[in-house]
Amino acid sequence: MTDNPQNRFGTESNPSNTLVSRTTGTSLFGRRSAEDSDSQNVPARTTANATTARPSNSLFGSRTSTISNVAGKPLAPHHHKSGNAIASVMRKTTSGPQRAQFTPSDYPGITKLAIASQKAGYDSVAARNPDILPTTQDRLQVQSRTVSNEQYRRFAKYIEDQSGIVLGDNKHYLVNSRLSSLLLRFKVATIDELINRAMQPNVYKDISSAVIDAMTTNETLWFRDTYPYLALKNLILPELAKSAKMPVRIWSAACSSGQEPYSIAMIVQEQATAMNHVNPDQCQIIGTDISPEMLDRCRFAHYDNHALARGLSAERKARFFKPTKDPNVMRVDDKIKNMVNFKQMNLLGSYSLLGRFDIIFCRNVLIYFSNEVKSQILNKFADCLNPGGYLILGSSESIQGLSDKYEMIRCNPGIAYRLKS
Ligand SMILES: C[S@@+](CC[C@H](N)C(=O)[O-])C[C@H]1O[C@@H](n2cnc3c(N)ncnc32)[C@H](O)[C@@H]1O
Repeated sequence: MTDNPQNRFGTESNPSNTLVSRTTGTSLFGRRSAEDSDSQNVPARTTANATTARPSNSLFGSRTSTISNVAGKPLAPHHHKSGNAIASVMRKTTSGPQRAQFTPSDYPGITKLAIASQKAGYDSVAARNPDILPTTQDRLQVQSRTVSNEQYRRFAKYIEDQSGIVLGDNKHYLVNSRLSSLLLRFKVATIDELINRAMQPNVYKDISSAVIDAMTTNETLWFRDTYPYLALKNLILPELAKSAKMPVRIWSAACSSGQEPYSIAMIVQEQATAMNHVNPDQCQIIGTDISPEMLDRCRFAHYDNHALARGLSAERKARFFKPTKDPNVMRVDDKIKNMVNFKQMNLLGSYSLLGRFDIIFCRNVLIYFSNEVKSQILNKFADCLNPGGYLILGSSESIQGLSDKYEMIRCNPGIAYRLKS
């Protein structure tokens, strides 16, 4: 078990205060899947030219821009609206490949992604598009991308109090890299000042929420680690089917961009074909996360080729996904999508409104918390499991020394925890 949360942050090691890609973490697309595909979930490309006065309510104030498609044709006003803030700060180098375009387009649902991109700020757009450079004027608005020691200590305590995430003593670079992209978005000159504001949620609610969001790690993939899904298929669903339990309720706690709850839904659908007693209509799956941005992505349920390539067999891709106008993007079939509801929820809070569950997946999030918080969460899960209900943790997580409310079940491969009677 990886008890030291610092290990989880260890790979993100750019110590500079320059633009940093948050995708340089534990995997190519690991840091924040929203950033992986924002620029790819789009069928028609646009380019940005500094020619037209931008609306005064624009995110970046005084810059100017026009958005046009590749043929140079200006987009319709409603299209322009959702993308101009980012496009306006995109300055392509002359030699770079045409991969940095941000496209509002007429793609269904794209507005949400456009908003997510805007929320991420131009830094992260630029960071994942090396052929885009921020303008001098944009840079001038930011005075310091480096957190001071004193502010780091206050911030680490604040983040732990708010989200449970333990930063450790020495992750200044992580704070710098994750928060840099918010400076321009909120027009704040220094990271220390951004943190000051974030710590006053009553006054600066948006900043506070975005800062916590930025400090979460959203790495995920389809059918992650395989064995939890084998346990679901071979042990837990047959057991529930035998007892004719209806409805079956499954909670994916800390679901990131949705791969986990949708993978669960696919297993249920597959088993419905194989086993008469598993009825997808009688299966409720709830995905929760602290991050509103991730929940937007869950609900949108469109995934680009990079995300689709991680853990998904060709057979499942063909069966459970539908093509979109963009050949690089597929959407989750409605049959699967409609099985899952999403809700924002902080694991530090109360779970009482969620009801009781037969299975809880809480994977790869407890590692970021202190033992005290882990123990509290495990005991709260026990209170909302039905008798004999199952808890499935991440492959490096265990309940040892943290809760005595579960018995360990060896699933070969892997383990699950069953609520003690
Ligand atoms: C590494 S992802 C795990 C995703 C998925 N469970 C998996 O194993 O692939 C961790 C998720 O936990 C969420 N998270 C972090 N702190 C949280 C909290 N206090 N309450 C709810 N979710 C939290 C993050 O936003 C992130 O999406």
